[in-house]
Amino acid sequence: MTEQFHFEPREVVVDRIEPDGRPLHIEVGFGKDVRILREARHDPDGLYIGIEISRKKAQSFCRKVARAGLRNVRCYLGDVRPVLEELPGGSVSSFTILFPDPWPKRRQSKHRWIQGPTAALLASALREGGGLIVATDHQGYVEQIREVLCEAGLMLECESHEIPDEDRTLFAQRFERVGETVTYQRWRKS
Ligand SMILES: C[S@@+](CC[C@H](N)C(=O)[O-])C[C@H]1O[C@@H](n2cnc3c(N)ncnc32)[C@H](O)[C@@H]1O
Repeated sequence: MTEQFHFEPREVVVDRIEPDGRPLHIEVGFGKDVRILREARHDPDGLYIGIEISRKKAQSFCRKVARAGLRNVRCYLGDVRPVLEELPGGSVSSFTILFPDPWPKRRQSKHRWIQGPTAALLASALREGGGLIVATDHQGYVEQIREVLCEAGLMLECESHEIPDEDRTLFAQRFERVGETVTYQRWRKS
């Protein structure tokens, strides 16, 4: 019997994120997408943590991780904001944030989770040389993200309307199908 038959979905869940010395990669708001599982499979020495506020999506994710037998993937169920406050400085190798909810109406924009204070926390949690990927379909959010990440001291390495294959999530594919323009940015702490 292989090890993966003793691996339960509940073993995937963590109450807090504690770096353990392995390169730590965090994806925020993975939704129904499985991009992070592909990454984790190709990099067994890295620790991959998905943060998702929706219980249903997190539960489905945990089942997929257990079924795939991936021991280097964890899930944090909850809002990313308090997690960012607890992450030790310089502990994260990469953040991936693909299509965060855009809250498109002007009066809703305060609900966007990427703002000045969270951008500063993202930058401080990244290790020197660490990277951050973000994509959105909302032009107002693109500008807000560019401004707050620049202010937080990160360097914009590339900005494009093309999404690389490895980051073409379910939302990326949905926008592609309807011909919606999306913006993809790659940032670095250096
Ligand atoms: C538009 S979906 C994108 C899903 C996926 N990244 C993709 O590209 O297909 C945004 C996801 O972010 C999650 N989310 C929204 N606010 C969040 C927060 N504050 N903390 C963690 N996850 C959040 C939502 O539950 C949802 O699954």
